[in-house]
Amino acid sequence: MSKYENEINRRRTFAIISHPDAGKTTLTEKFLLYGGAIAQAGQVKGKKNTRAATSDWMEIEKQRGISVTSSVMQFQYEGYCVNILDTPGHQDFSEDTYRTLMAADSAVMVIDAAKGVEAQTRKLFKVCAMRDIPIFTFINKMDREARDPFELCEELEKELGIETCPMNWPIGCGKEFKGVYDREKREIIHFTSNGGAKAATATEVSLGDPNLDELLGQRLHSQLTDDVELLDGASAEFDLEKVRHGKLSPVFFGSALTNFGVEPFLEGFLKMTTPPLPRMAGEKLVDSMDDDFSAFVFKIQANMNKAHRDRIAFMRVVSGRFDADREVYHVQGKRKLKLSRPQQLMAAEREIIEEAYAGDIIGVFDPGVFSIGDTLCAPGKKFKFDPIPTFAPEHFCRVRPLDTMKRKQFLKGAEQIAQEGAIQMFKAPYTGMEEIIVGVVGTLQFDVLEYRLKGEYGVDIFMEGLPYEYLRWITTADGEPVKEEDLILGTDTKLVEDFKGRQLLLFGSQWAVNWTGERNKQLTFSEFSAPE
Ligand code: G4P
Repeated sequence: MSKYENEINRRRTFAIISHPDAGKTTLTEKFLLYGGAIAQAGQVKGKKNTRAATSDWMEIEKQRGISVTSSVMQFQYEGYCVNILDTPGHQDFSEDTYRTLMAADSAVMVIDAAKGVEAQTRKLFKVCAMRDIPIFTFINKMDREARDPFELCEELEKELGIETCPMNWPIGCGKEFKGVYDREKREIIHFTSNGGAKAATATEVSLGDPNLDELLGQRLHSQLTDDVELLDGASAEFDLEKVRHGKLSPVFFGSALTNFGVEPFLEGFLKMTTPPLPRMAGEKLVDSMDDDFSAFVFKIQANMNKAHRDRIAFMRVVSGRFDADREVYHVQGKRKLKLSRPQQLMAAEREIIEEAYAGDIIGVFDPGVFSIGDTLCAPGKKFKFDPIPTFAPEHFCRVRPLDTMKRKQFLKGAEQIAQEGAIQMFKAPYTGMEEIIVGVVGTLQFDVLEYRLKGEYGVDIFMEGLPYEYLRWITTADGEPVKEEDLILGTDTKLVEDFKGRQLLLFGSQWAVNWTGERNKQLTFSEFSAPE
């Protein structure tokens, strides 16, 4: 066992996933409120116009008042050291959002009770399901008119293909949202005051209590009795093993805005989720309890300040303890180095830190040596963590420099930006033209590309939108590259290559993906890039 066992065991590192507006920011803030990291909600980033103040690194963020990259927050709660990874939504949705999920050990999925499963939830869920990490569901906004809770659970199961197990059950909704029924304790948590910016107050009453009629009203009381009977008979049995392998999602109901149900959720979920998970490095399983330090880079954030072209590399500590004074070995760079200016985000504050443990996320100053997926470990060790997959972009542009004399700078700049993982670059060698196609997960990255090429490399570019929305890396059984003339492709499908020479197809519709798959049986499609 590790000498850091106590520190590591109390760490819980998770990402919050949701469709924009489901209440992710509000819920994060309430977690921080319960963790004592902030005294009052609204302090971190509740109001959209104050967001720029907390992350003013990037010019583009300031201009638009949005946060381009995801951040991490740490707080203490009941002996746990909790790391929340924020996954940006809205128009700043990007590949970073997906990569951040690679650094998490579990996910909290926030669902709007009136809307159910939405597009972005589905995408993020898929990435979590790929790693089989535990997924906890918080059905939010119960203080508004909500859909039937049975129907919501059924939708989660059908749309996402995961079993659900309600841990508590809502009593009424909208103005009549009275509380939740805790299925394990067989107790009602009756909310007695609207929490708002402060913690909510609640009283606990058992199901058979004679005062329930008065407390809930006769109608809600009898509905609850019926619902509980149905639930006990019909819903999946709670099974912690299934939860830990991402096969069963515990479901909680509440309202982040009024704080109703937030604390029971936080408590329940911290108990059920795992301490820092091990990671694969080829054949080797690196356990969080190994004494030696190891970490991998999952995100690189460029500093938009032109004066110093430095970057911040975010890494997830996988094992042992990080000590700011000690040298670490950068496996891909093949050299020892000291990580400089290691920092962590504690609620609203960015702090320089001296130590961190397995499960923690640290951001370090990067003079341009790190790439996404790089491994850092104790000197003398030389393993590489498995690469982070490349996710299929959904927006594509043909890009060229306005001034053809600047093609060299253009390629250098674009390749650098692609290496940081902000965009993906493709070539179309099959059309006879030297065509560069850029693909992104979120359209904001096109603006970032344009802005940075101009600012850092002095290149103005021309971008032309392309009608593709889907991409699949293709492989054949014998591993040989395919020839375009051997494929049966429709007019809205294009064969291209990435910069590592892997072949892919771009499609205009899901229909075209299916059509092409059926007519080219020799191909295997993948939504993530094949490992190198
Ligand atoms: P997001 O990060 O997932 O995008 O969602 P966010 O928390 O920003 O919430 C989106 C909107 O929904 C906000 O209102 C927020 O106040 C509201 N909201 C969040 N949780 C609840 C809830 O439990 N009940 C109700 N009724 N509303 C909730 P807004 O008016 O769009 O933004 P703001 O001006 O309040 O920031």
